[in-house]
Amino acid sequence: MKEMNFKTLEWKDGYLVILDQTKLPLQVEYLDCKNFEQVAKAIKDLNIRGAPAIGIAAGFGVVLGMQNRDYKNWEEYQNRLNQVISILESTRPTAVNLFWALDRMRKVVENNKDKNFEELNQLLLKEAISIHQEDKLMCERIGEHGASLLKDGDTVLTHCNAGALATGGIGTALGIIYTAQAQGKKIKVFADETRPVLQGARLTVWELKQEGVDVTLICDNTAAVLMKKKKIDCVIVGADRIASNGDVANKIGTYNLAVLAKAHDLPFYVAAPSSSFDPSISDGEKIKIEERSEDEVTCGFGKRMTPLGVKVYSPAFDVTPAELITAYITEEGIKEGVRFKV
Ligand code: MRU
Repeated sequence: MKEMNFKTLEWKDGYLVILDQTKLPLQVEYLDCKNFEQVAKAIKDLNIRGAPAIGIAAGFGVVLGMQNRDYKNWEEYQNRLNQVISILESTRPTAVNLFWALDRMRKVVENNKDKNFEELNQLLLKEAISIHQEDKLMCERIGEHGASLLKDGDTVLTHCNAGALATGGIGTALGIIYTAQAQGKKIKVFADETRPVLQGARLTVWELKQEGVDVTLICDNTAAVLMKKKKIDCVIVGADRIASNGDVANKIGTYNLAVLAKAHDLPFYVAAPSSSFDPSISDGEKIKIEERSEDEVTCGFGKRMTPLGVKVYSPAFDVTPAELITAYITEEGIKEGVRFKV
């Protein structure tokens, strides 16, 4: 299994260590999360981000919230579990992986009520480690399936960061590129800078460069002209939540790319593990879209760029309708989308 030169998150000596993504690419600093409140804050503040990575961190957050405490009775244990889970759930609303992972943690307790608190905490740790390990494997499989869609010499456009920094393994969209490259294919990447928080410029470029991938950074508004000039062979993005009709919530700007890809007759692929699919939601309109602080737009990285008092609308995600998607690349294989043609 491919290992990256960095660890996005790691359970070490009884606590969670995360690579602080707010500091990248200028500083490579790790943040120790020794209690669940620190994990919740790290998720909310984007120190750790990307749907699968958020889910994994939350799993370990539950372990931290439950361990090293004296519980008088079952009710106290259950109340604490509810409190820890509800605080972790409140961090970010869009990525379903967060809720999926917390649900798995809750079920461990529900299914083992005959165990004592120490045993339950051991089982919670085991489950969090499994969530992490499974994600790693899912990334590998996604990489293998997705690489079969890429030819030697292809150029891929990607948005935001759906790489190793966003998952427990090699990433989803970027995992496909690493796998194709390992197969000897020469793949070029255009990375959207991804305003307002610049996950593309800061994170995707950082990790692709470490892996020796030929990457060119573009402003978000450059994609159309590159497509028109036939410089792009396909678009591959990740997902935060996929509704049962195939609509995909992902980083704001993903929908723009899907419209452009259709207009230029280019394949638009969504790479995501099964933990990003939400069968309980019928369509994308019902997905809760996070709105973040206007400061991310007006004062990017601490420097005010706009007149004071300007009104700002800054949804962090958008929904790409299923009819714009060529295929979904999951650990199980390639699932045809509405735009799929052979
Ligand atoms: O706000 P972020 O950085 O958490 O948004 C991340 C994305 O939109 C990713 O594309 C998505 O989570 C998939 S990560 C494999």
